Amino acid sequence: MPSLRCAVVTVDRSCGGTVCRYGDDERRAAEPEGRGAKTTTTLHLGGTLAAAGRKTLLVDLDGQGNLTTGLKLDRLDPKAELTLASAMLDGCDREQARSLVRQHSENLFVIPSALDLFTLPRKLYSVRGGAEHRLSWVLELLEDDFDHCLVDCRPALEVDTDNALTWATDVLIPVDVDEFSIEALELLLGQVHTLVTDARVAPPRYRGLVINKIDRPFSGFHQKVYDAIHQLPLPVVGEIPMRTAVAEAKNKGLTIAQYEPKSDVARMFRDLAVKAGYLPETPSS
Ligand SMILES: Nc1ncnc2c1ncn2[C@@H]1O[C@H](COP(=O)(O)OP(=O)(O)OP(=O)(O)O)[C@@H](O)[C@H]1O
Ligand SMILES: [Mg+2]
Repeated sequence: MPSLRCAVVTVDRSCGGTVCRYGDDERRAAEPEGRGAKTTTTLHLGGTLAAAGRKTLLVDLDGQGNLTTGLKLDRLDPKAELTLASAMLDGCDREQARSLVRQHSENLFVIPSALDLFTLPRKLYSVRGGAEHRLSWVLELLEDDFDHCLVDCRPALEVDTDNALTWATDVLIPVDVDEFSIEALELLLGQVHTLVTDARVAPPRYRGLVINKIDRPFSGFHQKVYDAIHQLPLPVVGEIPMRTAVAEAKNKGLTIAQYEPKSDVARMFRDLAVKAGYLPETPSS
């Protein structure tokens, strides 16, 4: 079975005002602000799949490295070893691609972040042709090694995120109960449309929205935003409550499936995995 390729991409307020169009310069940098729970969704969905016996690769495509540090792994060192960014820019063979992977725990593997991811977008802009396919070049070499691969994107709709969208067959979009999420979703859908039209990549399948950091009871305003998210054209495939266990798990470098497998938030991540179609109704383990 080919591995399920999923990009967890941003639609949070960082995207406000971003216009991305291939083939011209109509690309305005997004403010480096996000926090719509992309990393949390990637990490704990990945942990849920690993706990269910699926060999899962998480890719930290963000120079901030929150996925890497959230699992208490070391960043890769661009001065001493191959990094994802250098593999994307210079190409690599299968063994080199495998050298990027670190094991976190049983069934859970990570390509850690490295500081050179910060300069990757600028360098990719000067690549002539096929700049949006570089991540696919690397990850396709690893496809037979894993059942699932999830990519955690940084909070910007730029060429590195385009790489994730080009590679992915599936797109999961975390949103929080915030009106900016709705506005930013339209921008993201516009970017993907442009990518498909101008760069002629296959359109990804939107698995749907994951509403994260749900903090009930809602105020009247938040109830309205929550209802509006449910009216959007993409299905809501997950609803994750705000819980201190999420921060505690991160503090210990664990996934929620490892830290508190019986908690409601761990169950919500399992429900997400089922609703997104990654696990069967009754998980085998
Ligand atoms: N369900 C939750 N319960 C409690 N805290 C949460 C939950 N989900 C996310 N958080 C916290 O919210 C913060 C932002 O989450 P996260 O880092 O996943 O966002 P992000 O979208 O990846 O941010 P960025 O855009 O900077 O990459 C983190 O401190 C995380 O621990
Ligand atoms: Mg993040």
